[in-house]
Amino acid sequence: MRAVYPFNRGWLFAPQDLPADAPDAQFTRVSLPHTNIELPLHSFDNADYQFISTYRQRFTLPEALAGRRLFLDFDGAMTVYQVWLNGVLLGEHKGGYTPASFDLTDALRDGENVLHVRLDSSERPDVPPNGYVVDYLTFGGIYREVHLRYVEPLHIADAWAHGEGVLTNAPHAQVLVTVRNDGVAARAVLAVTIRGEAGEAGSAQAAVSVAPGRAETIAIRVPLRDLRLWRLEDPALYRVDIRLRTPDAAVTHDAVEVRTGFREARFTPEGFFLNGEKIKVVGLNRHQTYPFIGGAAPARMQRKDADILKHELGVNLARTSHYPQSPHFLDRCDEIGLLVFEEIPGWQSIGDEEWKDLSVQNVERMIVRDRHHPSIVLWGVRINESPDDEYFYRATNARARELDPTRQTGGVRNFQESQFLEDVFTYNDFSNTILPPSQTPYLVTEFNGHMFPTKSYDCEEHQVEHALRHARIQDTSFGMESITGAIGWCAFDYNTHREFGAGDRICHHGVSDIFRLPKFAAWVYESQIAPAVRPVLRVASFWAFGEREGAGTEPLYVFTNCDEIAVYKGGSLHGHFRPDREQFPHLPHPPVKVMGFSQFQMFAGLYEPLRVVGYRDGEAVIEEHISARGLPAALTLQADDDALLADGADMTRLVFRIVDEHGHRMPFCTAVVQFTLEGPGTLVGENPFPLVGGQAAVYVRAGETPGEIRVTARARTLPPASVSIRSGEA
Ligand code: GAL
Repeated sequence: MRAVYPFNRGWLFAPQDLPADAPDAQFTRVSLPHTNIELPLHSFDNADYQFISTYRQRFTLPEALAGRRLFLDFDGAMTVYQVWLNGVLLGEHKGGYTPASFDLTDALRDGENVLHVRLDSSERPDVPPNGYVVDYLTFGGIYREVHLRYVEPLHIADAWAHGEGVLTNAPHAQVLVTVRNDGVAARAVLAVTIRGEAGEAGSAQAAVSVAPGRAETIAIRVPLRDLRLWRLEDPALYRVDIRLRTPDAAVTHDAVEVRTGFREARFTPEGFFLNGEKIKVVGLNRHQTYPFIGGAAPARMQRKDADILKHELGVNLARTSHYPQSPHFLDRCDEIGLLVFEEIPGWQSIGDEEWKDLSVQNVERMIVRDRHHPSIVLWGVRINESPDDEYFYRATNARARELDPTRQTGGVRNFQESQFLEDVFTYNDFSNTILPPSQTPYLVTEFNGHMFPTKSYDCEEHQVEHALRHARIQDTSFGMESITGAIGWCAFDYNTHREFGAGDRICHHGVSDIFRLPKFAAWVYESQIAPAVRPVLRVASFWAFGEREGAGTEPLYVFTNCDEIAVYKGGSLHGHFRPDREQFPHLPHPPVKVMGFSQFQMFAGLYEPLRVVGYRDGEAVIEEHISARGLPAALTLQADDDALLADGADMTRLVFRIVDEHGHRMPFCTAVVQFTLEGPGTLVGENPFPLVGGQAAVYVRAGETPGEIRVTARARTLPPASVSIRSGEA
């Protein structure tokens, strides 16, 4: 039978190209996911993570081979690596975003085995996305997980299930199973059982006969009973259990389980339809990188990003700009009902023929890895913003359609007259409006970004304008029947090369900062959340007389999903205001523009606190207080999680802020915060570390021994703030 073991602990790492016989003393012990270097927040040299490193693993087999083959599966290591077992070179993989497998079987020996990985994390021009300048960073390390996988000679090499006719009265699953035979001639049976939350939804079986040394793909049709569709509000998932047995069922050769959901997703000239229901795509682009650790974020943090996009930012789609992202991120998108547009690695330039071959391989690896995710509704098969290249893009489209005829292709371009070989015209529109579609179906895949970079510590007017630009484009998108939606650039600030961003190695293009903490623009998205989910009311003002050009505080924008607000200045009513449908006629929940403050602001003595009450259907549902004091009331420290796995790699974010008496960040407070950590963990980030826009985050990584991790933050004369995190076994 198959057996799969996580293979992430006990690696030895050296940030050098060491020979296989180098003593262990030259290495340090690490767990995966691992970054080859921890970097400061910004202003580092892009050469710092570009070096060759060596990973070594000494291991004995967790169980006897018993006639099976043993594979080592890498989820992702950046960028080019060779793997040796006991001195035997097993192979090389080029590309950091898609998985690779190495067959260990023939090089195994009794007792201890030694694995040696040489990882080149330089920006290899022969490997996508590199070759020219790229506006993101390919941080180094074995930055995703590794597994050991035992399989019988006759085994399941791949399995994929998708729905057909899911909107008819005869819905069924089409299950495609590839069986590989590395043994002798055998006849077998594939048995498929599909289970949902309510129990078994269907089953079927099929006979297979695969000649030695061959692989065959078998299609099995499984009628589905009482189908619950995968929907954004109710993302029902099913487990597809696939067993490969002898015809008499006495012996099971292999068993795999694939998780999927059944839905119909189509981009059409009339809009985007999910299960026949028209949905306007409101999305944000996501880069997978984090401060300090590059791409080496554990499952927990990958999943958290999906939660932030869905629940904090309220968007319905994430584009994985510009490469296949962590399986944990995609799993979470499936679980919470967040659509995904996934694309191959690249940025603006196309390399030589070998580089293009790697891109076609990236299409294959991305689709084979990810086609079971119901959240994915579009494959991006062009290099982002590259010139036309007919032969190349005919090949990527053809490969995508062959491997997944159920999904449409897109290919992101930044010129409308571009050759349209895909199914959906996906266009980056930086015109600060939405140009009329040149082709349909049409999806705006980026806007804003470099046209209006915004830091969380920029002046209020700038941050407000940043928010309004997002609001205007989304409003325009809602008003244009002929476009399927708009995806803003971007969700989170990200580290980048010298050529881009603010020169500090950060592109401050996010609606949230690099720590995933909101700027005002985040609230444009958050305020579109359905009022039934939760009321939202955010006052986009620092409430300071001398912050804006020409002084004053208006217009003051409130981002809310309420239908009316009441504003109180001090104890008295300033007025009732309604969403600004004049400027934003199409947004489900337009911002509210508040005016009329000017007289009292002219006199500092008349500074008074604000109270803003939000109403739905005449009933007060939410209220916000804005301080007039402008003084710090507390240093706060919050951990995203109160428990971690003691595996040496698990991490959580610790957000710290200096806040006023109502808990709002003080955006221009630059106080330095000092951290102390006790217990079996390490602090990841700079220490001491200043506030960035009145807030920032560091991270805690669990050690390998269980126990309690306690972190205390101190700043100025404010009372210290502490959090406790339990670190334990899974
Ligand atoms: C686009 C590009 C993105 C990002 C963005 C910044 O042209 O596709 O990756 O660089 O500009 O606005």
